[in-house]
Amino acid sequence: MFIDEIKLINFRNYESLKVRLSPKLNIIAGENAQGKTNLLEAIFLCTFGRSHRTSRDEQLIKWDSPAAYAAVNVVSPFGKTLIEYKQRVKEPKTMHVNGTRLGRIGDLMGHIRSVMFSPETLDIVKGSPEDRRRFMDMAISQLYPAYFFKLSAYNKALKQKNALLRPDSGVIDTASMYVFNAQLAGRGAEVMRYRREFIKELDIHASKLQLQISKGRDFLRLSYAPSLGEAFDDETAFLDMLEKSLQDDIRRGFTGKGPHRDDIRIMLDDQDMRSFGSQGQQRTAALSMKLSEVPVIRAAHEDAPVLLLDDVFSELDGLRRRELLLAMKYCQCILTTTSLDGIGDLNLPDTRVFYVKSGMVEYL
Ligand SMILES: Nc1ncnc2c1ncn2[C@@H]1O[C@H](COP(=O)(O)OP(=O)(O)OP(=O)(O)O)[C@@H](O)[C@H]1O
Ligand SMILES: [Mg+2]
Repeated sequence: MFIDEIKLINFRNYESLKVRLSPKLNIIAGENAQGKTNLLEAIFLCTFGRSHRTSRDEQLIKWDSPAAYAAVNVVSPFGKTLIEYKQRVKEPKTMHVNGTRLGRIGDLMGHIRSVMFSPETLDIVKGSPEDRRRFMDMAISQLYPAYFFKLSAYNKALKQKNALLRPDSGVIDTASMYVFNAQLAGRGAEVMRYRREFIKELDIHASKLQLQISKGRDFLRLSYAPSLGEAFDDETAFLDMLEKSLQDDIRRGFTGKGPHRDDIRIMLDDQDMRSFGSQGQQRTAALSMKLSEVPVIRAAHEDAPVLLLDDVFSELDGLRRRELLLAMKYCQCILTTTSLDGIGDLNLPDTRVFYVKSGMVEYL
């Protein structure tokens, strides 16, 4: 799939913008703080219904404006889809697909699939387990929208159960507790099965990419690290465990084990990448993990996602830039850069270059 056109009104530092993109490579050039990332943020927003850098939607509205609008037109083998975001000050945002307002954010998943690599992506290696869970959850949600709903149902049951663990009356309602435990076990086991499959697929591609980028030096291995250990996707074993650990959970005041505590193990030559990897190796691992979403999505849907690369070029040498773009040549790619130096030498076909200055875009 590819994005044909983006339209923004009073979105971040853009007052009014309409750009048509190349179905292949798009380079958004410009100095710092001109609006390059804001443009990618709009695409991310239309993919997932949230920004990749803030959870406060109102920050997306141009300062001193009453409302913001972003629209992305997507062309896929199934036809054209228009995704829109609308937001007014002090009101919740709304998302629309082909003119129909969505009741649930989950219904947005899969209409555009995009994979974004930005400086923050390093968190999937260096950050907390929560960062890695967010990475898995977003990736799997756009791959299989059903996962989004299963995970939401699990989280809802978890919240309800945790509330029961801290009753106002001081008395634990064991009958309701059993009902929530059964829900957690059923929904949680499904969530874990999706995650296990996803990480298995991701590992195959990420280890190859890491080898390629490190010129044969780094052996990267990813594995799913469920907090429940071995018996993780067996619903009965999970329910058993929840029942047995009830006293611990009551003492703690929350549910100690389950998919909400999962992690991804990232190993480099049998050592933990987080503790032993160099900065460069960690960056490459984050890039390999993220870029591997592309072939995983392509295999599942016979259609490649849109690749968004924010600021990756500054840290790659000419050869690696070319390799990266050639490896991804089957998808539409939108990348930002502060410098066009050397890009002409890459000799890339079907490229459109844009220059961004203070929220205005010129075609070069
Ligand atoms: N709600 C908003 N209204 C108006 N301007 C905003 C808003 N939010 C952010 N900005 C402005 O947008 C600019 C940042 O844009 P962006 O992050 O896209 O920059 P960039 O071109 O990616 O820069 P860099 O190369 O440093 O990453 C800043 O100047 C910021 O002040
Ligand atoms: Mg930026």
